[in-house]
Amino acid sequence: MARFRTIALVVGARPNFMKVAPLLQELSKYPQVFRTQLIHTGQHYDADMSDVFFQDLKLPRPDRFLGVGSGSHAEQTAKVMVAFEQVCVEERPGLVVVVGDVNSTMACAIAAKKLCIPVAHVEAGLRSRDWTMPEEINRVVTDVVSDLLFTPSRDADENLLREGISPERIHFVGNVMIDCLLAQLPKTETRDTLQHFGVTAGNYATLTLHRPSNVDDAEIFGGIVDVVLELSRELPIIWPVHPRSRKMLEQLGLSDRVERNLDLRLTDPIGYLDMLTLNRRARAILTDSGGLQEEATVLGVPCITLRQNTERPVTVEAGANRIVGNHPAAIRAAVWSILNGNGHRSSIPELWDGKAAARIVEVLLRL
Ligand code: UD1
Repeated sequence: MARFRTIALVVGARPNFMKVAPLLQELSKYPQVFRTQLIHTGQHYDADMSDVFFQDLKLPRPDRFLGVGSGSHAEQTAKVMVAFEQVCVEERPGLVVVVGDVNSTMACAIAAKKLCIPVAHVEAGLRSRDWTMPEEINRVVTDVVSDLLFTPSRDADENLLREGISPERIHFVGNVMIDCLLAQLPKTETRDTLQHFGVTAGNYATLTLHRPSNVDDAEIFGGIVDVVLELSRELPIIWPVHPRSRKMLEQLGLSDRVERNLDLRLTDPIGYLDMLTLNRRARAILTDSGGLQEEATVLGVPCITLRQNTERPVTVEAGANRIVGNHPAAIRAAVWSILNGNGHRSSIPELWDGKAAARIVEVLLRL
């Protein structure tokens, strides 16, 4: 046990914050056993991509902020590795916990492992089998170097076993992101986010897009923008625009087309609680995010995923999520199917019950 006394938890990008919050909360129940350190790589640095999540989720100030910022994949990954290696040398944590699949996740896992510091990966084993996604590379590399693999679903266990990872390293614990959602949901009851956007419950959709495969190509992004504009006349769409997408809208000359529209409501990225409030009451969620597919499943809101594949098949099996790709006709058909009342019944995946972080800490206590 003494080996694990100091646990360094890594956050870097927006989807990491809500995964670490429940872990910190759970670990804080054992102050005699664990000392935690929160390390922020600075992969995401804008106030609305990072700070607002610290406020909404009441996360403590990071103990270390590495300030790596943006860059090419190699550049960003390398900067995180160099800076995090230094932290590991100075602090010598007993365990490094990384979450999700962003560049910071993989970079910190490699840096720690090469210093022979044990690594735990939370949200291990997910596979899209799409090697054009940088996240797929991050997932596979992180899993292969991690000592403890905490999985959110049974398919993740199977993926890891198929890759030859020994069963003792794998722990099926459920989904920490859902721990966060269930803990924060009551706070959405009193928020005025819907009024702020001028919509009423069940009468709008939310949209998020940030994958290079959707926003980096003029023809693809243009096609999505056109169909979304058309659909917004039937169902207003609220679109918090990711910085990458904002940049591409401008570069590709699409900004004028979207900014002048009243039914497609563009906004800067919004915080966790506002997004949860909107998603909870939405008629549909259109997204290329991984986490939103999971959140939609638990909220029971139909999700239309603008990708060719998903590393989260359990959301499709649960009945909440449809993978439609990014062709305008497919997006149109999926939205109309929902508007025509072809609802869906969604079940909650196994162990997505708000207790995943407690199960992870139980494993750590046993070790
Ligand atoms: C990253 C993750 C992705 C995750 C997403 C959530 C990787 C490979 N990708 O993608 O898995 O789903 O975060 O948002 O790790 N930028 C800003 N301000 C910021 C952060 C980024 O303006 O605070 C801009 C920069 O122009 C940057 C671009 O967004 O170059 C992309 O940021 P980056 O961290 O490289 O990847 P994301 O697309 O955000």
